[in-house]
Amino acid sequence: MTEAVNNLKNVGYLDLEIDPSLDLFAEIEKLKKEKNAVLLAHYYQESDIQDVADYIGDSLGLARQAQKTTADLIVFAGVHFMAETAKILNPTKKVVLPDLNAGCSLSDSCPPPLFARFKEQHPDHLVISYINCSAGIKALSDIICTSSNAQKIVESLPKEQKIIFAPDKNLGAYINRKTGRNMVLWNGACMVHEIFSLEKITKLKARHPEAKLIAHPECEEAVLAVADFIGSTTQLLQYAEQDDCQTFIVATETGILHQMMKNAPHKTLIPAPPNNSCACNDCPHMKLNTLEKLYLCMKYELPELTMDESLRLAAKKPIDRMLELSDQLGIK
Ligand code: 13P
Ligand code: SF4
Repeated sequence: MTEAVNNLKNVGYLDLEIDPSLDLFAEIEKLKKEKNAVLLAHYYQESDIQDVADYIGDSLGLARQAQKTTADLIVFAGVHFMAETAKILNPTKKVVLPDLNAGCSLSDSCPPPLFARFKEQHPDHLVISYINCSAGIKALSDIICTSSNAQKIVESLPKEQKIIFAPDKNLGAYINRKTGRNMVLWNGACMVHEIFSLEKITKLKARHPEAKLIAHPECEEAVLAVADFIGSTTQLLQYAEQDDCQTFIVATETGILHQMMKNAPHKTLIPAPPNNSCACNDCPHMKLNTLEKLYLCMKYELPELTMDESLRLAAKKPIDRMLELSDQLGIK
């Protein structure tokens, strides 16, 4: 165990040999019962992790599950800001994640000291931050939002209210277009959703005139402009399942295709092409988590996410505001 802890300090995850004869799915199920653990996973996790999770969801759904769970151990198969949100909402629970280095390019694009200065330049503005940000940014915000509720939360505020929207400029610009607002945008973006090639998408659409393009609002304006439907991961899933169309070009992280294929097995799903030949619409942060790391993380309850209490309390206020508003506005 000491060696494991030392390894953890070096690499941010447990780097131990696993007996290759172990059935990791069965072992994880056993650990869940033994430890009264709940396994929460984002749709962008690899298929094996999604299959063993107790709950799979988008950022809003995951936050709600983390808040209400009675489990003793929250195992968060997602990225760092998501596990942080779980700890902020449910501080008496132990929160672990398979790889502490699973960060987020969007969150990293908004360092709290720079954002604090930006905020000072707009003193009469309310700050709405997308949940894909660090606890430090949440603590500087008035309301948090996710891609599921951003538009409704902005619309719920008086038209004359001045707003800073951080950190995603693409989601912010999309909400500005949808609501006719002029929110001041922080210049951040997600490396996965910025990689799609409009040129290749246009050619793909020409080859599949029957297909609908569905896109996440973190994509750039040019891609969103040619999309047939725009929504959060949950909304994209529901649309692909419920719409009559049989073929979808999907402009978001590829992990979502696993649930889409399960929910709509007879439909054809084509991942939108990136602007180079690599698998760049796989999020490298989300994909740091593996079934092996998940097993070790549950077995040793490491790495654990901890947080300074004053930061937690400051970051909690705008998340609570989001959850209250979402309930009032009837957003699931
Ligand atoms: P949602 O699942 O909330 O749509 O967020 C997408 C995302 O980029 C998560 O990192
Ligand atoms: Fe961050 Fe983008 Fe990865 Fe989501 S998909 S975790 S926003 S880098």
